[in-house]
Amino acid sequence: MSLPANDQKEHYVHEMFNGIAHRYDFMNKLMSFGLDQSWRRYAIRRAHISAGMHVLDACCGTADLTLEIAKSMGQTGQVTGLDFSEQMLAVGQQKVQKSEHRTQIHLLQGNVMELPFADHTFDAITVGWGLRNVPDMDKTLQEMFRVLKPGGWAVSLDMAKPTLPVFKQVYWLYFNWLVPLLGKITAKRKSAYQYLHDSARAFDSQQQLTQRFAKNGFTHTNFHNLMGGVVAVVEGQKAKQNR
Ligand SMILES: C[S@@+](CC[C@H](N)C(=O)[O-])C[C@H]1O[C@@H](n2cnc3c(N)ncnc32)[C@H](O)[C@@H]1O
Repeated sequence: MSLPANDQKEHYVHEMFNGIAHRYDFMNKLMSFGLDQSWRRYAIRRAHISAGMHVLDACCGTADLTLEIAKSMGQTGQVTGLDFSEQMLAVGQQKVQKSEHRTQIHLLQGNVMELPFADHTFDAITVGWGLRNVPDMDKTLQEMFRVLKPGGWAVSLDMAKPTLPVFKQVYWLYFNWLVPLLGKITAKRKSAYQYLHDSARAFDSQQQLTQRFAKNGFTHTNFHNLMGGVVAVVEGQKAKQNR
């Protein structure tokens, strides 16, 4: 396994996503067999997002989840997408400009570990495949908790750990061998997709991440496996009396 040391992770991750931004969406579809968008829609439902809300999509990348959130709210509501990779944001901005929801979406460059928002700003927060990439997950969750309104839900959609015998062995083989090869062929970045495997291996299990949500103040914490636990949605609520 070749992961950057924690003090170099931020720089490594920033450069990596800048480097693969132009192929990111294509690789996502390929690796997930086109299922990524349905997983995003499920995460939106778990975040209890409804019309008229102001939602933060942290680590928004190329804005697929951001756009899907705006779509789910119809013509009302606002979504702020935040990411630190200027190249990922540039790809996202192009898609936002073409969308009928462009006036409801605001993309912003920033660090999810130091969110540039006041306390209790957002009705709901999503983070798609983001927590795995930050050097300090607790600090990130504390920031998400701080800017969430009391009663609001935060959800993480990310790689998880399948447990079913045989299926899990086949999955890790696919992930360790085929995904980096696809990354080499299509995005010319084998190392970035090797990182994807290595970071998923090192990441919290869905149970551990659920506990981490609780440790950082969230209540009603839970997780939901998707595709046999290859991916999971972890959720938590900021209690209503938390002002
Ligand atoms: C795997 S991509 C996920 C993009 C998007 N959420 C999606 O659903 O496809 C992870 C994103 O997290 C961003 N990221 C990683 N660490 C970050 C940090 N500390 N602050 C802000 N963004 C960060 C990266 O730039 C990248 O765009």
